[in-house]
Amino acid sequence: MTGPKERAVAAYRAAYGEAPARLSYAPGRVNLIGEHTDYNDGFVFPCAIDRGTAVAFGSASDAMIDVVSADYGEVDRFDPTAPFEAAPGWRTHVRAVAGVFRARGIAIGGMRIAIAGDVPQGAGLSSSASLGVALGATFDIEGALHPTELALIAQAAENDFVGCACGIMDQLISARGEAGAALLIDCRSLEARSVPLPADMAVLIVHSGITRGLVDSAYNERRAACEAVAAHFGIGALRDLDAASLAANEGALDPVAFRRARHVVTENARTLAMPAVLAASDWTRIGALMAESHASMRDDFEITLPEIDQLAGTLSAATGGVGGARMTGGGFGGCVVALTRQDRLPALRQAALDHFAAIGRAPGLIHACRPSAGLERSRYQN
Ligand code: GLA
Repeated sequence: MTGPKERAVAAYRAAYGEAPARLSYAPGRVNLIGEHTDYNDGFVFPCAIDRGTAVAFGSASDAMIDVVSADYGEVDRFDPTAPFEAAPGWRTHVRAVAGVFRARGIAIGGMRIAIAGDVPQGAGLSSSASLGVALGATFDIEGALHPTELALIAQAAENDFVGCACGIMDQLISARGEAGAALLIDCRSLEARSVPLPADMAVLIVHSGITRGLVDSAYNERRAACEAVAAHFGIGALRDLDAASLAANEGALDPVAFRRARHVVTENARTLAMPAVLAASDWTRIGALMAESHASMRDDFEITLPEIDQLAGTLSAATGGVGGARMTGGGFGGCVVALTRQDRLPALRQAALDHFAAIGRAPGLIHACRPSAGLERSRYQN
């Protein structure tokens, strides 16, 4: 099967009758640990994956933007100088990124665009972020903006126009990911430390097959709960709360709010601990951090589902103590990520297949991903 870049170029040729001038490509991501910490100004530890979204583009003879989606076989056409207006499905995401450029006073001229991607949607692997970052690089025709700036633009598109109050993790790792490494990102300063993954480590992604449903309202509700606890403590964000102060105030907090905050405080600590544990290939500790993270998402943040708990437990057991597994992403469906040694991969794949057979669901994506580089911008070579 040809990849998104080839498909975007082919769709461009088919739609516009010539080769594109350039190509942008941005990957999806898998978060290894640090869930729902980004919008609390905390720490996350994702890597970019070997799946993403490609945008082939060239100039147009008028001031309009023409777009074709290779995946949907659909088109859109809009005026980038006019105020943002939503349109069905994927079109809103494209218009939203253009809308942020407009809101920031960065003019976009007429363009022809073709888009193709291979990040499964609704799987918690950041298909929208990869689209947003690739589009940001497309509209930044002079190449003047830093990848971090493009990530902020893609996040603003989600926040201001699509209506999802997401944090910065997905867009930032999509823009700045590094091959063979995960990034420890400080979501307050946006500084990122590259942490090479051990050469014998496998990063296995298993999609539960449950696509995120009404996740946006639950996501926004979790975010609001965290902000309410931060306000209670008179701090800017839960990043500034330590475990002792939280424990001392347990009685003053609503029990649900207390548990939400405990997830964030403990998850930040686990995330900060992970890079050294990984560098030392301490598989037992890696497994413990993954298991604690999953339990915290299940019991305190309440964003897992019984089927996902089961899948994470099965994969974790299949590591035989060499690594571990946890749900990754926003929650309520999506994927489990397992970190283990390469030689354990066949056992984990089999365990995943057995899991799906036992619950009578067709296996979804079972993918040992290659931690990959972030945004690529290139001139198209004929
Ligand atoms: C989604 C959001 C991210 C982050 C994760 C949870 O992927 O887009 O900003 O909050 O959920 O860690």
